[in-house]
Amino acid sequence: MPKLVVVNRAGVETAVEASVGVSVMEAIRDNGFDELLALCGGCCSCATCHVYVDPAFAGKVNPLSEDENDLLDSTDHRTENSRLGCQIEITGELDGLKVTIAPED
Ligand code: FES
Repeated sequence: MPKLVVVNRAGVETAVEASVGVSVMEAIRDNGFDELLALCGGCCSCATCHVYVDPAFAGKVNPLSEDENDLLDSTDHRTENSRLGCQIEITGELDGLKVTIAPED
């Protein structure tokens, strides 16, 4: 199973296992992190699953869709590494992916 490294809002890094095919949001939520609200359940309409993707993996994650881009524009803490966790699918290539949970809006 690919490993996902999650950095919480306190800056603490935790490595968890993530199944291929689930989203980064689901992997974080299912491993007990309560900072990622994921209020819409993954249908790209809330932006409460905002994470920062380690730039080393920028070319490996699936590309940003127009809807995701628009929604990220509505957050206060967008950076060039911003993504919505529910829109990144875990693949074998993403083993070791590090994501940081973005501050709450
Ligand atoms: S869970 Fe709502 S946009 Fe990702």
